[in-house]
Amino acid sequence: MQYFETPVEGKNASIPGNDDMQPGYEAAILKRLISAFENRRATVGIVGLGYVGLPLMLTYAETGFKVIGFDIDAEKVEKLNQGQSYIEHIRSKSIQQARAVGFEATTDFSRASEPDALIICVPTPLNAYREPDLSFILSTADALVPHMRPGQVMSLESTTYPGTTEEELLPRIEAQGLKVGEEVFLVYSPEREDPGNPEFNTRAIPKICGGVTPACQQAGIALYGAAVERVVPVRSTRTAELTKLLENIHRAVNIGLANEMKIIADKMDIDIYEVIHAAATKPFGFTPYFPGPGLGGHCIPIDPFYLTWKARQYGLHTRFIELAGEINNDMPQWVVNKVTDALNSCGKSVNGSRILVLGIAYKKDVDDMRESPSIRLIEILQKKGAEVAYSDPHVPVFPKMRAHHFMLNSVELTRESIASYDLLLLATNHSAFDYDLIQKHAKLIVDTRGVYLDNLANVVKS
Ligand SMILES: NC(=O)c1ccc[n+]([C@@H]2O[C@H](COP(=O)([O-])OP(=O)(O)OC[C@H]3O[C@@H](n4cnc5c(N)ncnc54)[C@H](O)[C@@H]3O)[C@@H](O)[C@H]2O)c1
Repeated sequence: MQYFETPVEGKNASIPGNDDMQPGYEAAILKRLISAFENRRATVGIVGLGYVGLPLMLTYAETGFKVIGFDIDAEKVEKLNQGQSYIEHIRSKSIQQARAVGFEATTDFSRASEPDALIICVPTPLNAYREPDLSFILSTADALVPHMRPGQVMSLESTTYPGTTEEELLPRIEAQGLKVGEEVFLVYSPEREDPGNPEFNTRAIPKICGGVTPACQQAGIALYGAAVERVVPVRSTRTAELTKLLENIHRAVNIGLANEMKIIADKMDIDIYEVIHAAATKPFGFTPYFPGPGLGGHCIPIDPFYLTWKARQYGLHTRFIELAGEINNDMPQWVVNKVTDALNSCGKSVNGSRILVLGIAYKKDVDDMRESPSIRLIEILQKKGAEVAYSDPHVPVFPKMRAHHFMLNSVELTRESIASYDLLLLATNHSAFDYDLIQKHAKLIVDTRGVYLDNLANVVKS
C-alpha cells in the first residue's frame, strides 16, 4: 500500500527544505501527496468504470500510474480483469495494456484505503419526478468514506448541482473524523468526455478543478496535472459544479433554438440546414447547432434539470432550461407527424406500414443508447400500429434497458431489405451507413439529421 513517499512522523513533523508551506503534520501530508503525483508513485482509484471512468483509468495507466478501479457491477469488473472492454469505442487492447502496468478492477470497497486518490465517476440520473437522483453518489460515498485515511484526495466528477460536494461529501468525510483540507482533500472536477469523438482524448481536454479549501485545490491540481495537459483551477467546488452545468445547458438551449428554427423554416419552406451552414460562414459570433429528432445521451437531456431543481431553493425559475426542454421534448412527436404526412402522401397510413429506423444510438458513431430519441420514436410508431424494425451497425441487438425493451435485432442494409420497407426513418447519422445505397433503394426517407441536403423526390426533411 502506498500512502506517502516517506512516512509522516507525527502531528508536528516538519519538512526540511519546504519554504512554501507551514511546517507541520498537515503540510507534510499535502506535500507528500503532491510529490507522489509529480513522481508518478501515487496509486489512483477510479470509482465507476463507465463511459467516463474507463477512459480516465486508461489515461492514468498510460501516464504510468497504478490504477485500481472500483465498480459495483461484478460482470464488468470480471471482464476488465480479463482484459476485455465492454464499450465499443474503447479497445480491449488498451485494457490489456493497462492491466500489464498494474491496473486491476474490484468490487471490494474496503480497498478504498489503498489509492492516494479516489475519483468518483458514477451516474447522476433524474428520478421519476425529473428531480436529481444522487443515490449513486451517496451510496458510493457511504461505501468509500469508512475506508479513507489521511493523505488521500477525493474528487467527484459526476455532473451535479452546485453544492453537492460541500453539502453531501464533506460532512460524510468529516463525520469519519478526518479533517478536510488538512488530512484529506476534497475537490470537484467535472468530466468533459465526448465519447466517440476521435479529435479529443481525456489528456487533451482541459480539466476544471475546484477545491473545498486552498490545500484541497493544490491536491486536485497535482492529481489532474499529472495526467492531463491543462488544469483550470476555479475558486470553489460550487464554481466547478456550475461550470459543468453551464456547458451542458448552453448546448441544450442552443439545440432547442435550432429545433424551433427548424419548425419555423419548415413552415416557410426554407431548408434549415442551408440556413445554418450559411450562417456558420460568419467568422465570429456564431456557433452552429443542429436540429434533430430530440435530445439523447446521459448529459444534455438530464443535467440542466439538476440546476432547475437547485435554483428553486433560491426562489428562481430556470426559464431558458424549461423552454428548451419543452421544445426538445416535442421533437419525436414532430418527427412522427412528418412520417405520418410522408406515408399519407403515398396513400398509406402509419398503421400497418413497415418502418425501418436507421440508427438507435443517441448520436453518431457510438453504441450508447441512453435517452436515445429513437426509443420514443419506435414507441410512438408501434403504438400507432406500425411494424417497426431498426438498423444500427453499432447496436446489433436491442439492449435490455431500465424502462424499455424491444425484442429486435439490427437489420442488415441491402438493396432488397431497404426496398422492402414503406419508409426509412433516419434517426442517427452514423458514418457507417451507405447513404447513397439507402437513397437509391428506399421508397421514402424521413431525414431528421440533415444528411440529404439536396431536394430528392423520396426524401422528406424533418
Ligand atoms: N458519458 C459521458 O459522455 C459523460 C460526459 C460528461 C460527464 N458525464 C457524467 O459522468 C458521470 C458518469 O457517467 P457515465 O457516462 O460514465 O456513466 P456509466 O453508467 O457509463 O458508468 C457508471 C459506472 O458506475 C458504476 N456504478 C454505479 N453505482 C456505483 C457505485 N455505487 N459504486 C461504484 N460504481 C458504481 C456502474 O456500474 C457503471 O460502470 C455522470 O454523472 C455523467 O453525467 C458523462
